[in-house]
Amino acid sequence: METDPTLEVTYRDLAAEPIAHMTLDAFLALESGEDVQQFLDADIVVIGAGFYNFSIPSQLKAWVDRIAVRGKTFAYGENGPVGLVTGKRVIVALARGNVYGEGSPYSAYEHAETLLRSIFSFVGVDVEVIVAEGLGRGEEARRSAIESALVQARQMSLSSDPVVAL
Ligand SMILES: Cc1cc2nc3c(=O)[nH]c(=O)nc-3n(C[C@H](O)[C@H](O)[C@H](O)COP(=O)(O)O)c2cc1C
Repeated sequence: METDPTLEVTYRDLAAEPIAHMTLDAFLALESGEDVQQFLDADIVVIGAGFYNFSIPSQLKAWVDRIAVRGKTFAYGENGPVGLVTGKRVIVALARGNVYGEGSPYSAYEHAETLLRSIFSFVGVDVEVIVAEGLGRGEEARRSAIESALVQARQMSLSSDPVVAL
């Protein structure tokens, strides 16, 4: 991503400052949740995540659990759920040790990109995804995967603010 000094960026490290797992009490408090408000206030949300045991890290799952809030980010209509989020970009940068893309015998094991695409589509956002994969397959595979992910990232322009980076 090109550096733009006009962007107002809030950085959150969910590993250093984790959100507690979802519970019934936390669920009941969701409507006044700060996390969903921060998500709604941002024009662009950038999520960087590793791939843990075929899915997203549990810290990120705890954040996702605060974002899917009925009445704020989605509603149920006569024809089923409707996403309420508009005018927002969500960009996901995923790093995977193995290869899960099309044609891989492991593609059915991929539950991180698919989960995030589902969650954000559910709330109304067509998420943009950058993947660096095969990082555990040796130095050359790692270097080339990171390089091509960076090329994709640089092609994205970020022009509005504020930004939340997770
Ligand atoms: C706890 C843990 C579980 C992991 N599980 C998987 C996995 O199921 N599949 C995979 O391809 N890579 C797995 N990895 C590798 C990470 O996805 C890989 O290291 C990724 O690049 C994370 O970013 P990093 O470079 O900062 O470690 C795992 C790594 C850790 C630490």
